[in-house]
Parts: sequence; C-alpha cells; structure tokens
Amino acid sequence: IQERTLVAVKPDGVQRRLIGDVIKRFERRGFKLVGMKLLKANEGILAEHYHELRRKPFYPALIHYMTSGPVVAMVWEGYNVVKTSRTMVGDTDSAEAKPGTIRGDFSIHISRNIVHASDSVETAQREINLWFHSSELVDWDCCD
Ligand code: CMP
Repeated sequence: IQERTLVAVKPDGVQRRLIGDVIKRFERRGFKLVGMKLLKANEGILAEHYHELRRKPFYPALIHYMTSGPVVAMVWEGYNVVKTSRTMVGDTDSAEAKPGTIRGDFSIHISRNIVHASDSVETAQREINLWFHSSELVDWDCCD
C-alpha cells in the first residue's frame, strides 16, 4: 500500500547544508517526493506539531531551536514509507542512532538531530495536513 509521510530537515540540518544529503537518501531508497518547501516555522504550527511534548521540560528549548532558522518540509510517498523513514532517520537519541542512519551519520545530540519523520501513519496524515495545503502536494507519475 502506498503511504505518505512528513520529513523535515530541521534548522541545524539546513544550517549545516545537509538538505541535499537528506533528499538524496530518500530518492536513492526509491521514494517519491510529492511536496517540498523551505519556511521559517512559526510557534503556532510548532505548538500543533509538538502538542504531545508541550509539558516536557525541554519543550521551550525545542521551540526555540525549531524557530532559530528555516526548515525544509517534505512529503515523501511510497511503500511502507512511514516505517522505513524512521529507520533511515535513526534513533531520536543520536548516541543510540546507528551509523548509516541520518542521525547516526550527522548528529551527536538529541536536541540537534537534523531531521524529523512522522512516527505513524496516523501522525503522518495529521502532520502533512498541518504543514501543507492539499494544493501544494503534487500527484505525479512518469516513466513507469
Ligand atoms: P523528534 O523525535 O523529531 O521530535 C521530538 C523532538 O524533541 C526530538 O526529535 C528532539 O529534537 C526533541 N527531544 C526529545 N527528547 C529530548 C530531550 N530529552 N532533550 C532535548 N530534546 C529532546
């Protein structure tokens, strides 16, 4: 079954010029890009996005970090893309992230972990609707 997921390069990933590397990994794996934009996220969208974390002690720092620079929000489509993306991104805690994963290759700290990927099909749907208008998503097929 074809799924979609939200992947976002966080401000540290943008600042470190890792956008292309992240995109390359998803393309190479075989997923299809159906939406992408560079934006400075405001607190409203982040409050929605991180609603479940609002009472965590690190929440204020998380919002500060996520508003410190632009993010690149993307929607990727393909077979099992939600679960596979999480595997490609690696463990939330960079110290646990295996080499070969995005975090395992580029991050040393849980609070500067380069990239976001939706954690379930339901969350993905919610996050895609939050970050994108349906008109910003492109249904395309070619060469198949
Ligand atoms: P992510 O899994 O993409 O979404 C939740 C984010 O909260 C997580 O990445 C980290 O950036 C951040 N986070 C989670 N746990 C901690 C923590 N203990 N300290 C700092 N940031 C955290």
